[in-house]
Parts: sequence; C-alpha cells; structure tokens
Amino acid sequence: MTAHSIHIEKTTNPKQKPASNQLVFGKYFTDHMFILDYEEGKGWHSARIVPYQPITLDPAARVFHYGQTVFEGLKAYLTADEKVLLFRPEQNFKRLNRSNERISIPALDEELALEALRQLIVTDRDWIPNEEGTSLYIRPFIIATQASLGVSPSLQYQFMIIMSPVGAYYAEGIHPVKIYVESDYVRAVKGGTGVAKTAGNYAAGLKAQEEATSKGYSQVLWLDGIHRKYIEEVGSMNVFFKISGTVVTPALNGSILDGITRNSILQLLRHWNIPVEERQLSIDEIYEAYSNNTLEEAFGTGTAAVISPVGQLLWNDHQMIINEGKTGELSKKLYDTLTGIQKGEVEDPFGWMVEVTDQLVRANG
Ligand code: COI
Repeated sequence: MTAHSIHIEKTTNPKQKPASNQLVFGKYFTDHMFILDYEEGKGWHSARIVPYQPITLDPAARVFHYGQTVFEGLKAYLTADEKVLLFRPEQNFKRLNRSNERISIPALDEELALEALRQLIVTDRDWIPNEEGTSLYIRPFIIATQASLGVSPSLQYQFMIIMSPVGAYYAEGIHPVKIYVESDYVRAVKGGTGVAKTAGNYAAGLKAQEEATSKGYSQVLWLDGIHRKYIEEVGSMNVFFKISGTVVTPALNGSILDGITRNSILQLLRHWNIPVEERQLSIDEIYEAYSNNTLEEAFGTGTAAVISPVGQLLWNDHQMIINEGKTGELSKKLYDTLTGIQKGEVEDPFGWMVEVTDQLVRANG
C-alpha cells in the first residue's frame, strides 16, 4: 500500500438525510468517516474510509486522561452549478500540524490528509446541503490512543475525519449576538496552549460559557490571562472592532487562535483599502470608543460562525449596545463577500477556493 492508497468500505445501510432547511450546527453526521492509525516505529498507516460508526478505545487511552488531542474545522460548499468547493483546506492541515507540534503529536502528511478529505467528500457528496446558509462542516481530529497512564506523549494515535451538514452556528444566524466580557475566568496565557486547536482550551471555557448563557449571552469574550485587560478572542471565533473607520483586531500574541477566517478577513479589508490594525487592544479602549460614539461595529470570524455581528457587549456593569444592536454595513459586506466567494458566486481574487474533482484543483486556476 502506498502512502496515498486509501481503502474504501461503503456502507450497506445509508442513513436518512435531514432536510436542508432544518439543519443546526453539528447534529447530523454523514454515512462515512476516514481513519488513519499511528504507531511509534511504523508511522501513520492503514488509511481507510469506513461507514460512520462508534469507535472502541481502551479506557486507559491517554486522550481520556491527559487530553492529548487536536482538531480542525473547515467547510465544503455546493455551488449553483453543482461544483463542490473547499475554502483554503491546505491551511487547516498546516494549522493541524502546528497544533500537533504544541501537543507533542507526530506530524501528519498534509498531502495524504487532503487526499483523504477529497475521497471522503466524493464518497459522501450527496450530503452537501444547498440551502442558503448551509454547508458541510468537516471535523478532522487526532486522539492519543495508547492504553497506559504514564504522563508522556502517546506512542499510538488515530486521525479521523467526520463530516456534518450544518446550518448557522448561532441561533441568531447573521443577526447580532450578545457577548459577555469575562473578567474572572481565563482561557489561555502566552506560552500555554491557546494557539493550538486542542480540546483543553474549549473545556477550560465551558464554565464561563455556561454562566454567560444563563445570563442570556451567546458567548464570552476572553481577556488576557495576566492583566485581565486586553481582548483575546470569543469562545468560537476571533473578534474585530471598527473604531473611527479603522478595523482593529488583537494581534496573534501567542495565546489566541490563528483563525483562517480571521486571516482571510484581514486580506479582504486590505484589498478594499480599509485601514486595519492588528495590535494589542484593551477593553477600556473599547469602552472609551463606545462612550464617545466611535465604536461603529464589532463582529466575530470563524469557520463555524462565518461572520457574526456583535450587537451587545456586557463588561462588568457596562452595557454597550453597538450600532443600535443591528448588523453593521461592513459586517454585512464581509459576510456577503466571504460567503459569496465560498459558494462560487463572487470573484475569488485570492485563489482561496479549491474544487473537489478527481483531484483538488484551484477553482479559479
Ligand atoms: C470552527 O469554527 O471550526 C471551530 O473550530 C469553532 C468550534 C469550536 C465550533
């Protein structure tokens, strides 16, 4: 078997697909999944596509005890002329390997991962929804499977890809969300694992998320772990603020996620000659801008969230209603342009889109 030869076992019992207009985020899964094993000394091996199914693991598998695991998130889109497009998929596998590096997981062959993804999408192509605002969310992930309780990097792993037809991540859709600025709990600090897409970062956020939800907020906005002052990111997205015509987002400082949507939005804004700044940004500065009416818009960016306008921020007892709680003009333009590029309806000047055929090809190349 060559590195890129992938065994395919098709299901004999295809599932009923959910209606496109009833999709929520991450509830339904397609008929197949991809699996690749790793063993120290043998490397990554046994690439296979199998019917979607539960996996059996030893209760001592290290992922359960020490959280040695990483994941990614990307989407496939169906165009009006029935082409299947992926948005910058190579970036996800590059970032997966950066996460691997941080969590002491052996690097993956990015070419093999892309080919596995291609074949899995071809196998489950009928699952890609076409309703407005829907897509096929793809979740590649790696878990440490070695059964032993020593605290050291596992000698065995599994890399898997599962896929889920999805609608909007937030119940609000493109309508503005309410965000709670978290002043007590922290998500990550520089030198920690905040830059990696690893489960522990999300587990660390659940308590704050739960408390914010109980107060009627969709997510929390994290402040830095040392000064509790500088803006980091929101639970599942990077965050941007438009202040006096300039779009400001926290710089990649070693504790926030290097979002692929974040990077794409920065490229789009620069392409449109809109002033952008990646820098340290304090919550006091946001409050001051709000108080003197120069905070014009706020929005989050992420694969799952796409562009999500922020209509309200609560910071201690300071309530900030941004742009009268409505979707801002720039947020809407970014949403329309990005989703238009992703659906193949708007020109893609950056060569971001990749078409899934009998190979992966640049959609505009
Ligand atoms: C994504 O946007 O793909 C993410 O990974 C966020 C998520 C945890 C839902």
